[in-house]
Parts: sequence; structure tokens; C-alpha cells
Amino acid sequence: MKTITVRVSPSLALIKYWGKANTEENIPATSSLAVNLESFYTQTAVKFATDYDQVAINGVQVPIERYQSFFHHIRRNLATDRMFHAESRSNFPVAAGLASSSSGFAALAYGCAKLVNGDISMKEVSNLARLGSASASRALFGGFTLLRRGARSAEPFLGEEHWPELRIIVAIVRPEAKKISSRGAMEMARITSPYYSSWLSTSEKLFRESLDACRDKNLEKLGELMRTSYLGMFSTMFTSQPPIFYWEPESVQLIKICEELRQKGVAAWETMDAGPQVKILCVENDLKTIQETVQDAFPQMQLVISRLAGGPTL
Ligand code: PMV
Repeated sequence: MKTITVRVSPSLALIKYWGKANTEENIPATSSLAVNLESFYTQTAVKFATDYDQVAINGVQVPIERYQSFFHHIRRNLATDRMFHAESRSNFPVAAGLASSSSGFAALAYGCAKLVNGDISMKEVSNLARLGSASASRALFGGFTLLRRGARSAEPFLGEEHWPELRIIVAIVRPEAKKISSRGAMEMARITSPYYSSWLSTSEKLFRESLDACRDKNLEKLGELMRTSYLGMFSTMFTSQPPIFYWEPESVQLIKICEELRQKGVAAWETMDAGPQVKILCVENDLKTIQETVQDAFPQMQLVISRLAGGPTL
């Protein structure tokens, strides 16, 4: 039986998508700018199933409930009644705030779509991936990608060759799966945080300015916008009812280390997602100093260095 195997790198947002304009259709309420991380990937093999939909992640069958509405939408959009069997492996911890749902759903959507329609456009695959996880729609393009507020598909912005010296250091603070999913946390923030509306009204300006900062390769400007974006996102979590805390003591220490490095003239700009891990954006020349400083403070901590990835491979 025909099998399609897809490899996709996860999408790390520099300017965050956080909150849904339409929950049913998973439409983002904020515009995001992201890069794909070359050192990480999810590889998924998809084939038609004879009986029912099945998904295995790293060799373990997962409860299909999380995927039911995704497969329902996929079948409707691709005008098919076929069932799918998917086996997915990631070379990094899943559900830990390392954007595994972005590479996971992107690979799954691409595999299912290619099985049904070999000529499908990337824009349409991105639309399908968004139904699983909005960040997944961005993972289908390499380099810098955008998912605009209200959009159904992401779009490529600048290729990975635009800023070849850019690096991301991923500091893995806790590899374990988190207790609250990003999906659950952003809904909680939307419904209960009094700061959610100010988050929405401020994030579009950050997004617009970040596009110029990327085009100009202005790391200081981009770094400041990134910082405002992730801290704004977390402020909606801290003020949710009940509050949501993904941060661990090491996360805060890493944020301070980046601040101290910047005071010494080393451009280390951190960001965080729905988890305790800290991702540091920098240029190649500063990599060694940042790595040594972090490793001095946390000798046991796993640091993964990544460049920007290209698009998915089949
Ligand atoms: O796409 P989701 O539902 O996994 O949400 C992603 C949310 C963040 O990772 C925190 C931000 C982003 O834009 O990727």
C-alpha cells in the first residue's frame, strides 16, 4: 500500500500567535512571525487505513479524540471518505513547549493531503494543518513565515538564506510533557484574563514592526519586539483564572542571564512558549559566549543549537 513519508521542522514563533478569533475553525486572533528550527524534526509516515483512523507517536498509539475533528475536516476538505493510519517520530521531547504540535500536524496534514491529491498546493496544505494546530500552518514553509490574524493559511516571508548567521539556542529546562496544552491555556486566557483584550490590541503593532526588523536584519529591534510579545502573552496566562505558570526557576534564571549578556554587549534575545524551555536568538559570532555562559550556570542542561530550516521534505 502506498505510504507518504514527510519530514517537517517545528515552527518557533518570534512574535506569538496566542488566542483564537474562531475556536471551531481554529482561526488565529493575532498575527505571528516564526522561524523553523533545523535541528529538530518530526517524521510521519501516512497511509490509507482499512478500518479506522490511527495515530502513533514515537511508537505509542495516542487517544484518537484529539485528532477526530482534524480528520473530519481533512476528509471534508479533500473530498474523500478514506481513513488514515499515521506513524510519527520526533527527535525532540513532545508536548513540552518545543512546538511539537506544529511539526506534528504539519507533517500529518501534508502526508494525508499528498495521499489523496498529489497536486495539492502548499497554501491548501497549510490551511489543512491549521485545523490541527494553528502554528502547524507556518511549519510548512522554510525560513521566516507569517500567519496573519484571521488567515486560514500561513505564507512564506523570507527564505532561510536571508539571515544565514542567525542561530537559535534551545535550552531544555524540563523535557517532560506539560500538564496544560497551549490550546487549553490560550482558551483559558481568552475567556478569563482581563488583559486578553490589551494583548490583542498591542500584538499587531509588534508584528508589523517585526517584519521591518527581519528585513533589515536588525537583531536588537527584533529582540525587543520578541521580548514584548512573549511577555505580553505570558501576562494573559498569569492573569487567567486560575493562573497558568509554565515557568520554572531555571527559566527565570535564563531570562536574567540573557539580560546580563545584553548589558555586556552580547546580543542574546530570549523567547518562551507554552512550556518552561527558553529559546535564545543570536548570531553565530556570539554563539560560543552565550553557550558557555549558560552551561557555566547549568552544567547539566541540554542545549540544542539550530539554524533556520528550509521547507518540509517528502
Ligand atoms: O498552534 P498551537 O495551538 O500549538 O499554539 C501555539 C502557541 C505558541 O507556541 C505559544 C505560540 C506560537 O505562535 O507558536
